Amino acid sequence: MKQALQQISQPVAEQIVQFKEAYQAALLSDNSLLQQMVAHVNESSGKQMRPLLVLLCAQLYGEINPTTIHAAVAVELLHVASLIHDDVIDESDERRGKPSLLKRFKSKASVLGGDYFLSSALLEASKTQNIHIIDAIASMGRTLVDGELLQLSGSKEAIYNENYYINVIKRKTAVLFATCARLGVLSTQLTIDKSAERLIEMSEYLGICFQLKDDVFDYQEGGHIGKPVGNDIQEGKMTMPLLYLYERANEADKAEILTAFQNKEIAKIQQWVVEKGGMEYTQQKIAYYKEKALQCLQDFEDTPTRRSIEQYITLVADRKK
Ligand code: FPP
Ligand code: MG
Repeated sequence: MKQALQQISQPVAEQIVQFKEAYQAALLSDNSLLQQMVAHVNESSGKQMRPLLVLLCAQLYGEINPTTIHAAVAVELLHVASLIHDDVIDESDERRGKPSLLKRFKSKASVLGGDYFLSSALLEASKTQNIHIIDAIASMGRTLVDGELLQLSGSKEAIYNENYYINVIKRKTAVLFATCARLGVLSTQLTIDKSAERLIEMSEYLGICFQLKDDVFDYQEGGHIGKPVGNDIQEGKMTMPLLYLYERANEADKAEILTAFQNKEIAKIQQWVVEKGGMEYTQQKIAYYKEKALQCLQDFEDTPTRRSIEQYITLVADRKK
C-alpha cells in the first residue's frame, strides 16, 4: 500500500511536502490542551488520500498553486474534524489502531477538539479567497452532517435497502472525494466545465468504492486496521454485505436476520454473510463502481497524472487494508 501510494504521488511529490508543512502550520495554537490533542491526532495521521486527490486533480487541469494547497489542507482538516466528532457520536475508543481522541481526552474536550479542526478548515478555505472553493468546502460539511443523520435514522428496518444505503454513503463518504476533485479543478480554473463534471463523477464512484471496501473489511478477520470484526453491527450499521442478504430474504428469514442484528450476534451474522454470498456481491459492486470511475477518465489526455489517478482508483478498489 505504502509503495503503491508513493508511486501514485510521484507527479505531485514536491507539492505533498508543501501540503504537509501548510497542514501543520494551520493547526498551531498556544493552548496547551489543543497542542496535546493535535499531537495525539497527528500520531495516527492516516494516508492523507484526500489531499493527494486534490493535488492530482489540480495537476490534471493546470499547475498546482497556493490555492490548491490551501484547499487540500482545508479538506483534510474538515475530514479529520468529522472523524473526531464521529468517534464521539459512535462512542468509539479506537481510531486507526490507536486510542481515539474521545478515549484519551473524553467527550467534552473531543467535541471542542473537533470544532477546532473544523474552524481551522474554514479559516484555511478563506485563505483561497475563492468564493467557489469556500462554498464547496462548507457545502461538503453540510452534506456530511446530512449523511450522518441519515445513518442515525437508518436504524429503522423500512430503510434497510441498497438504494437508501448508497445514498447514505454518497453523503457520508463519497462527497469528500467528489469535493476533492472539485477543489482541484477550481484551484486552477474559474468554472466547472463538462470534463470537470466527469472528474467529479469519477471521484464520487471512487468514494463509493472506498466505503464498500470498508464494509467488506468489517466482516474480515484482521481486515480493518484498528477495528474489531463486526464493528459496524456493534454500532447498529447494516452495510452492503448484510443488506444483500436482508433484501433477498423471505419474511421469516428477514425477521431472523433482524433479531440477530439487533442482538449484535456478530459471529452468526458474519457466517451467514460469508455463506450466502454477501461478500462476493459487495466485491462485485466495488468492481462495478471501479469500472465506472475508470470510464470517466477515458477522455482525458494520457499523462503521468491521469495514470496516477487511474492507479489511485485501483488502489482504493483493490486495497487489502
Ligand atoms: C465515519 O463513518 C464518519 C464519516 C464518514 C462522517 C462523519 C460526519 C460527521 C460526524 C458530521 C460532520 C462533521 C463535521 C465536522 C462537519 P463510520 O463511523 O462508518 O466509519 P469509521 O469506522 O471510520 O468510524
Ligand atoms: Mg464511526
